[in-house]
Amino acid sequence: MTILVLGGTGKTGRRIADRLTALDLPVRIGSRSGTPAFEWQDRSTWPAALDGVTSVYLSYYPDLAFPGAYDDIKAFTELAVRTGTRRLVLLSGRGEPEAQASERTVQESGAEWTVLRCSWFMQNFSEDFLLGAVLDGVIALPATDVPEPFLDVEDIVDIAVAALTQEGHAGRLYELTGPRLLTFAQVAAELSAATGREITFVPVTTDEYIASAVSHGVTPEEAAGLSHLFTEILDGRNASITDGVHQALGRPARDFADFARANAQVWKR
Ligand SMILES: NC(=O)c1ccc[n+]([C@@H]2O[C@H](COP(=O)([O-])OP(=O)(O)OC[C@H]3O[C@@H](n4cnc5c(N)ncnc54)[C@H](OP(=O)(O)O)[C@@H]3O)[C@@H](O)[C@H]2O)c1
Repeated sequence: MTILVLGGTGKTGRRIADRLTALDLPVRIGSRSGTPAFEWQDRSTWPAALDGVTSVYLSYYPDLAFPGAYDDIKAFTELAVRTGTRRLVLLSGRGEPEAQASERTVQESGAEWTVLRCSWFMQNFSEDFLLGAVLDGVIALPATDVPEPFLDVEDIVDIAVAALTQEGHAGRLYELTGPRLLTFAQVAAELSAATGREITFVPVTTDEYIASAVSHGVTPEEAAGLSHLFTEILDGRNASITDGVHQALGRPARDFADFARANAQVWKR
């Protein structure tokens, strides 16, 4: 009856695994550092990770919109259902046609499914590829003034845990956003207000962004992929708010200002 949490050491998976463990549920971390190790690029590692598993939190790495993701999700989903998985909760991305092909694979798998189609995470600024920029005080991105409804990972976690452990979420596609549209300049202002430091947004070219991301430790491949997301996905298609968090949990989504206040210490060092 094990629940496999893929990406179980990452932003969403780590929190989900902790919450399931606190509920005394048997959890297996599915990642390269898990036991047994799970590696998307080595399919021989998949059967051991799925052994005895009945539910899976399915988060892909690096991104469902990247080349190869669909083939991996299709093969993994087929194997999971064949070996006894009955419930799949997929972490997906909003406005990404490639991600939506993976969603369909999960929806047609024969297992109970829930899709969490998410906008950009607030925690990209506190735990991921934008943390270094915030610490430097300059968020330099190939983005315009198109706003994004940033989503608190804690909301995703609440919904994923509910979908994995409770009834009522099977067959649901939740389109999840935060409660407010924010441009990157407005994000910088929110972070400045929360930290008391001056944090600014500077629009840059794609090449300038890739060079800077690589200097902050992002691999060139990931930097190129992220740059693609900025230019393709942040074109206005996601510049709207949904009530997906309310649909799933019966409460409003968390606001960026609350996230920024709660994480202010992270950016003060
Ligand atoms: N960031 C956003 O704004 C956003 C928005 C919408 C959707 N998403 C989706 O979120 C997903 C990422 O989830 P996340 O942000 O919770 O994770 P994350 O913080 O990016 O962490 C990545 C996780 O994947 C594992 N991992 C890395 N390389 C791996 C590999 N080759 N094989 C197996 N596991 C590997 C890592 O653990 P190990 O190092 O131990 O392997 C870690 O647990 C992506 O599919 C993305 O499309 C992100």
